[in-house]
Amino acid sequence: MKRVALLGATGSIGTQALEIIGADPELELVAAASGSQDIEGLAPLTQVGGDLTALLDRAEPDVVLNAIVGFAGLPATFWTLEHGVDLALANKESLVAGGELATAAWKKGGGRILPVDSEHSAAFQLLEGREHDTVHSLVLTASGGPFRGRSRLELSGVTAREALAHPTWNMGPKITVDSATLMNKGLELIEAHFLFDLPYERIEVVVHPTSVVHALVRLRDAAVLAHLGYPDMRVPISYALTFPERATTSVEPLDLAAGLILEFSAPDEEAFPCLALARAAGEAGRTAPCVLNAANEVAVATFLDGRLPFPAIAEVVEGTLNATNTIAAGDLDELVAMDAEARRTAAALTRELVH
Ligand SMILES: NC(=O)c1ccc[n+]([C@@H]2O[C@H](COP(=O)([O-])OP(=O)(O)OC[C@H]3O[C@@H](n4cnc5c(N)ncnc54)[C@H](OP(=O)(O)O)[C@@H]3O)[C@@H](O)[C@H]2O)c1
Repeated sequence: MKRVALLGATGSIGTQALEIIGADPELELVAAASGSQDIEGLAPLTQVGGDLTALLDRAEPDVVLNAIVGFAGLPATFWTLEHGVDLALANKESLVAGGELATAAWKKGGGRILPVDSEHSAAFQLLEGREHDTVHSLVLTASGGPFRGRSRLELSGVTAREALAHPTWNMGPKITVDSATLMNKGLELIEAHFLFDLPYERIEVVVHPTSVVHALVRLRDAAVLAHLGYPDMRVPISYALTFPERATTSVEPLDLAAGLILEFSAPDEEAFPCLALARAAGEAGRTAPCVLNAANEVAVATFLDGRLPFPAIAEVVEGTLNATNTIAAGDLDELVAMDAEARRTAAALTRELVH
C-alpha cells in the first residue's frame, strides 16, 4: 500500500487523481487538502487552506501529489523534498518560483520528483535510465492554445471565455489562460530545466496542435524518441502515483489505424511574447522566475475577471521583471517576500492597463 496525500483535491488534477486512487487498491488516500471548498470526509485527514505542512507531518505519506495551483503550492513542495518523500508534482509554479532552492532540498532530502505535467512525465519516461551525456536536447510540445495562428493585433479583443476554450486539454482556469498566452510552455521550460538538469539552450519548444506527442528527446547520434498518447491527464497522474510500477488505466488506447496528424511548427513569439519572457527569466536565474510567476498570476487573475486585455498579460509580466531587482534567495521566506513584492508591482502596473 502506498499512502497518498492529495493537495488540491477539488481541482482538475485533484478530481482525476481521486478517480485513479479510488480504482487502485494499492493506493490509500491518507490526507487531502483544498484552498476553499469543503472536503470533510474525503480522507481521514483533511484541511482547507492554511499551512499544510502540519497536515503532512501527521499524514506521514509515501507520496505527496501537489496539485495546488500557483505559488501557494511552494511550502508543500519544500516540505516533501526536505523530508525525502516522493513528490508527484503537478504544481509547476513550485519549480518555477523556487527552482534553485527546491533542487537543493531535493538533492539533500533524497526523494524522487515524479512529474505530473504531461510533457515532463513523457520526458521523464524518455530519459529514464539514459546516460545524461547521450542526450542532445529535449523538445516540449505546445498545443498552441485557442488563439494559435492569430497575430498580436488580432489578440487585443479576445475574452476570458474564448481563452478558456482550450482545443485539446480540459484544465483549471489559470493553466488554461497560461496555455493561451504560451506562458504555460514558458513555465514548463523552466520546470524542465530544473527537473532534468538541462541548460535552456538544450530545451526546444514546438507547436503541435493535436497534443498527441507530449515530448521528444534528441539523442547525440541524431535519433529522436517521442512519447505519444491522447491528451488525458489520468495517464501521467497514474504513472506518478504508481511509479515504478505501471497500473492499467481506463484511458482509450491510441488508434493508429484511424490516422494521426503529427504536425509541428515553431511558436510565434511575436504574437505570444510570454514564452520568450519566461526563457529570459529562466536564463537570468536568481529570483527572476519567481517574479515572472508572481506577475503572471496577478495578470491572469485580472484577465479572468474581464478587466485586463489579453496582450496586457505579457506587458504586466515584462514591466514587473524590468522594475524588480532580483536576489539569490537563501530560503523560502525570501522567496515569499520576493513573490509579495512582485505582486505589488504587478498590481500597480495592472491598474494602469485595465479597461
Ligand atoms: N489541469 C491540468 O490538466 C494540468 C496539467 C498539467 C499541470 N497542471 C498543474 O497542476 C496544478 C493544478 O492545476 P488545476 O488545473 O488542477 O487547477 P484547478 O482546477 O484550478 O485546481 C486548483 C486546486 O488548488 C487548490 N488550492 C488553491 N489554493 C490553495 C491553497 N492555498 N491551499 C490548498 N489548496 C489550494 C484548489 O482548491 P479550491 O477548489 O478549494 O479552491 C483546487 O483544489 C497547476 O499548477 C497546474 O499548472 C494542471
